[in-house]
Amino acid sequence: MCGIFGYVGELENSPSVILEGLKLLEYRGYDSWGIAVGNDRHIVCEKQVGKIGNAVLKSDVLNLKSNIGIGHTRWATHGMVTDANAHPHLSCDRQIAVVHNGIVENFNSLKKKLEKKHEFYSDTDTEVIAHLIEQELKTKPLKEAVVSAFKKLKGLNAIAVLSQEGEIVVAKNGSPLVLGAGDSSYYVASDPSALISYTKKAIFIEDQQLAVLNKKGIQVFSLENGKKVASKIQTLQGEVADTLPGEYAHFMLKEINEQPKVIRSVVEVLTDSAVDMAREIKAARGTFFIASGTAFHACLAGTYLFSKIAGHHVNTSVASEFNYLEDFLNPKSLVIALSQSGETIDVVEPLNRAAKKGAKIAAVVNNLGSTIYRMGDIKVLLGAGPEIAVASTKAYVAKIAFLLLVAYSLVGKTSTAKRLLRQSANEIERLLRKSDLEKIKKTAKFLAKAEHIYTIGRGLSYSTALESALKIKEVSYIHTEGLAGGELKHGTIALVSRGTPCLVYAPSDETYEAIISNATEIKSRGGFIIGIGSKKADVFDEWIEVKDTGDASLISMVVPAQLLAYYLALEKGADPDKPRNLAKSVTVK
Ligand code: G6P
Repeated sequence: MCGIFGYVGELENSPSVILEGLKLLEYRGYDSWGIAVGNDRHIVCEKQVGKIGNAVLKSDVLNLKSNIGIGHTRWATHGMVTDANAHPHLSCDRQIAVVHNGIVENFNSLKKKLEKKHEFYSDTDTEVIAHLIEQELKTKPLKEAVVSAFKKLKGLNAIAVLSQEGEIVVAKNGSPLVLGAGDSSYYVASDPSALISYTKKAIFIEDQQLAVLNKKGIQVFSLENGKKVASKIQTLQGEVADTLPGEYAHFMLKEINEQPKVIRSVVEVLTDSAVDMAREIKAARGTFFIASGTAFHACLAGTYLFSKIAGHHVNTSVASEFNYLEDFLNPKSLVIALSQSGETIDVVEPLNRAAKKGAKIAAVVNNLGSTIYRMGDIKVLLGAGPEIAVASTKAYVAKIAFLLLVAYSLVGKTSTAKRLLRQSANEIERLLRKSDLEKIKKTAKFLAKAEHIYTIGRGLSYSTALESALKIKEVSYIHTEGLAGGELKHGTIALVSRGTPCLVYAPSDETYEAIISNATEIKSRGGFIIGIGSKKADVFDEWIEVKDTGDASLISMVVPAQLLAYYLALEKGADPDKPRNLAKSVTVK
């Protein structure tokens, strides 16, 4: 949610370096963007409403010889989407520029005090920070002024401050920031994937830390006592190609196509971690899975897998609700958080509270060095590679593949899980063949006219139905609702009329007969049934075949819906990679 990028170094090409860096962070927010670059005379700023996409800078900014600057892609919280509200925000004397990720909870009271001496140009909470630092600079040097101003902010925030004097000062409390150390070039970004094309040497700064970047290097300090802290350099994984769409028209399609590779990698790399996790679950007195969005659907799938395969009960909660459900946690509890980004604030908050109660925390994330990763007493890196499309696909299947390994490991049958997962990867490869894609494209053309779509499943397919509905609605904007097959008749069936499309998950398992009977109830009221599964049924008006791969079928069965969502977005003229109003990494409440 909001992307920050900054650069300082020997080369005088900061405008283009920052523009390129921001493009890699665009998935974090795409309402508007802006950059501020400096030279020894002044700070120059450019801001634009809209996606950064293929934007080019105005020539006076682009051609400015500058070796330092900061930039921002915005997901609006305070203030409408306008040029004036886009970051960076400048002090009155234009000696500093600020970009910000987070929410300054006390910005109103701070602004009231500052307004007497400072002129405000925007409605943002961020502009308050620029003027606050300007005020502090009257009596303190830059680093101390930022420390003092930052301590006055309430909330979870990360900032980068560009100074006319040739330094970038960054500070963090809650929102993510990572530093990059290249050859005579130093960077700051909200996400390590934006650094890979410049350097693989990264420093993940902690909350309550501040860093100063200049031509000579990076120094990290404690915000509490101002003392220098030793910073550990970590090596980033991944290649530049991972951050580009390559042969694909969109990241979403690329990431859907990467899923067989991702599943195989989970099997190769994460088997030991799965066995260890199974041991931890057995030892715990109560296991709780928490996550948001798509990751929550993976948790739900896990609950069914653990019950069915291992006869083991685990609890699952939407992370933002866990705050109100955690009274029974104790030092013997195990809380497992699933998160692609590792930064979702709705997950971070309950984890903090669980840690305070002494519960053990397991972090299953895709982003090395992320906040949730660092919070884990047990850490699992999913290894799905950078996921750039806002709608999560490959990270979802990676999480379920891992949970399937854990479930089978609970009963000492890890090798069965490995076999099923490999079969599922093969089946996804088959579904991605050109001839099968043509069929899905045709279905998408037809579904594009629908106002409402329903998706139903039972047992292991319940989570698939929920995830399919989320995928379709978030990228195509067609209202889609996922339900447990048995629940439909308890209300929602009232909305079914002639032609209402319904995706029915009918795998060859114990749910088959009951779900076919639910499909028949819909059909009797005029509904149009699209069946997904290995067996064709008479009730299906259309059938998307997904071959049976046992308990791993729930992985391959989500793929037709991911593809339908993608092609529906194209049919509706929407950008599947950047759905309106959404952000990939949600770092504000
Ligand atoms: C946002 C994204 C979703 C994602 C959810 C949880 O809402 O748009 O795609 O599923 O956050 O994200 P996480 O990074 O914690 O998996």
